[in-house]
Amino acid sequence: MLLVLVVCACGIGSRSATESKPIVLGYSQLGDESTWRTQNSRSIIDAAEKAGVKIMFDDAMQKPENQIKAIRSFIAYKVDVIAFSPLVETGWDTVLHEAKAAGIPVIIVDRMIDTADESLYACALGSDFYKEGRRAGEFLVKKYRGSGRPVRIVEIGGTMDSTPAIGRYQGFRDVISSDPNFSVIFSDDGDFMLSKGKEIMRRVLRLYGPGDLDVLYSHNDDMTFGAIEVMQEAGIEPGKDVVIISVDATQRIVDYLKDGAVNCVIECNPNSGSQLMEIARDVASGVGVPKRIYIEETVFDEYADLDAIAPRGY
Ligand code: AHR
Repeated sequence: MLLVLVVCACGIGSRSATESKPIVLGYSQLGDESTWRTQNSRSIIDAAEKAGVKIMFDDAMQKPENQIKAIRSFIAYKVDVIAFSPLVETGWDTVLHEAKAAGIPVIIVDRMIDTADESLYACALGSDFYKEGRRAGEFLVKKYRGSGRPVRIVEIGGTMDSTPAIGRYQGFRDVISSDPNFSVIFSDDGDFMLSKGKEIMRRVLRLYGPGDLDVLYSHNDDMTFGAIEVMQEAGIEPGKDVVIISVDATQRIVDYLKDGAVNCVIECNPNSGSQLMEIARDVASGVGVPKRIYIEETVFDEYADLDAIAPRGY
């Protein structure tokens, strides 16, 4: 288990040594599977430094059992606040009961947990993944409005049982089900990894001819890049022969959108660090916080003024 204690200097706006000790925040990150995740970790570590929060940052390498170990080590260390981004939704109740018994408040970040006991966490800060899925569907409805022809969709999903995979799957279907011309002809989980995007698209092109698919809906940019590479090798022109919808909005995918190689990009915002530090300070000092906070997000698509998109920074 990689456990890093980042001791941050107290910056502007932080509490002075005479006021009280800096907050110690134990953070369990689920892994480093994507460009989005790397930026999310950077945002959290940078924000901790700016806020004068001491952060113990652990990378669980895509293993929930590592996250549980890390949370237990934060409890043993008696941190002030625990935050974590859960790989999947289930399996957290026992360790969260242990944190509760130790009197340590917990903040869920990015993804959600599935629990019947809401007292196990103080606040959940993250994306509205269901809305992201709906936004992907709304783009398709707009794109094919009035075409009256069948639209065959291939979906590359995220990690099975993770909140983004569940929300993006369901939100999308709840919108496209309004038109029987839309059909998802293939769907598989790609774990948000570029290599799996490639692998799945190779499988798709073994099952279907290049002219047999109309749309690729990919749950993140890294998987989209992998799939695009394979499509290009097969002589398929992305964005033209196959309409592409991707989620995350990294700089590289925005460049593809500008070049016409991608048609719609649903933003998933990784920059939750500064909001997290504010919430951590509040919960550490007993100030009430909302139970659920959604981070702001938008959509970039081929109908928008693409020159107006500010540099993404990651
Ligand atoms: O939970 C957010 C998702 O996880 C992002 O869309 C994806 O890129 C990341 O790995």
